Amino acid sequence: MAEPHDHSHSQQDPIDIWHVRGHFATRVGFILAAVGSAVGLGNIWKFPYIMGENGGAAFLLVYLVCIAFLGLPVMLVEFVIGRAGQTSAVGSFRKLSTGTFPWWLNGLLGVFTGFLILSFYSTVAGWILFYMLHAIRGGFAEFATDEATAGAFFGNWIAGGTEPVVYQFLVMLMTGFIIYFGIEKGIERAAKLLMPLLFLMLGGLLINSLLSDGAMEGLKFMFRPDFGNLSYKAVLDALGHSFFTLSVGMGAMITYASYVNKDVHLGKTGLAVAGLDTLIALLAGITIFPIVFAYGVEPGSGPGLLFVTLPEVFARMPLGSFLGAVFFFLVFIAALTSAISILEPVVTWMVDDLNINRHIAAFVAASTVFLIGIPATLSVTSDSPLGSVLIPFPGGSLGFFDLFDKLTSVFLLPLGGLISCLFMVFAWKRASAMAELAGSTGNAGHILVAVWYRIAAFVAPLGIATILIYSVFGLVNKP
Ligand code: PHE
Repeated sequence: MAEPHDHSHSQQDPIDIWHVRGHFATRVGFILAAVGSAVGLGNIWKFPYIMGENGGAAFLLVYLVCIAFLGLPVMLVEFVIGRAGQTSAVGSFRKLSTGTFPWWLNGLLGVFTGFLILSFYSTVAGWILFYMLHAIRGGFAEFATDEATAGAFFGNWIAGGTEPVVYQFLVMLMTGFIIYFGIEKGIERAAKLLMPLLFLMLGGLLINSLLSDGAMEGLKFMFRPDFGNLSYKAVLDALGHSFFTLSVGMGAMITYASYVNKDVHLGKTGLAVAGLDTLIALLAGITIFPIVFAYGVEPGSGPGLLFVTLPEVFARMPLGSFLGAVFFFLVFIAALTSAISILEPVVTWMVDDLNINRHIAAFVAASTVFLIGIPATLSVTSDSPLGSVLIPFPGGSLGFFDLFDKLTSVFLLPLGGLISCLFMVFAWKRASAMAELAGSTGNAGHILVAVWYRIAAFVAPLGIATILIYSVFGLVNKP
């Protein structure tokens, strides 16, 4: 077993993410990369719509519990594995385990999960890109005339066949380009300036929403729980989303943590990342739900929620086209830093474990994702060419987009996280894991470090397994 403080391998690793397997210069550099990964479409697009589908406040509570007791502890497990391993997720599992059990397969599972996630993530990032351009062209103005227009426009556009595929292609081109040229750091530096702007803009939009007619109803929807309505699906969605939004369960955080210096306290870093991520999701929710009620949008209207609510608001705002374009641009950058973090483990695996040249790996990975993504993009509505292709899934049949989304969020990510916890318990020493979390300058004996270990070793695996088994069983019997 590698000692947690063993640096000796890091110098010999093959050329990697930042060309020489270097380290983030500062703790801030690592936080930025991890926040860049975590904050994305999951917070601004997905969280509001699945909260809407699952009835609001009761879902929110379950979600927060999942973040605190499942998502965050597992994120810390990934951090610990990555920094101790100092290589790709697959390689880290291999390097850190002594026995014959093939833990590295969990790294491979993560690579597969990454492919599937990015295939539909790039679809939605493409929609964002299109909305940005549409705002620049002044296209939001037409939404001011009649409240049904925004919904109809969105529905028609995503069903438009080739155009959404072209935007998806642009997204994968940019993501692949950034990784091909190894300029992730530059993008993160740009994001460092742009993310506070996104935060400010969300704050402004939130105030605007709180002044609207729907404010009271929106807040009640989000904060007054009705547990009578809580379904199996809601609990499963909350579990899955807590992993998705924190980028946990597929090796992204293992990969990023493999570049962190030994003196960083991973526990504190994880708390900061999860806290910021949750804050942004809440801001997005409090911004969107008052609008939902003010304009009579159906809270459960699904993946279109962001696209039918906010453009309505920009349409009626002074400087709306400009502000709308800026907003969608900032969301796009948030999506791009997440997309990079989804593709990076795939590429790192091809480079570190398959010895493929980094340029070729970036090209092959991005192209493959684009190809797998095409059926997802074409399957979003029943009138589109692939919309009628339905795949059986517990709780009903799904098109490719929904299949990739559901399969990854509610199954593959929690499963990957669960296996990482088991790895830590069975293949590793408790003292090593605790020391790695605290870092070389932190206090490994701190009560919170011990609490984390127990949660990650017992509560999280049992919790994840229970929810998975229970909900899948419940959904099969009682969709
Ligand atoms: N956390 C990202 C988001 O919320 C998505 C993501 C999932 C990124 C899994 C990496 C890994 O948008």
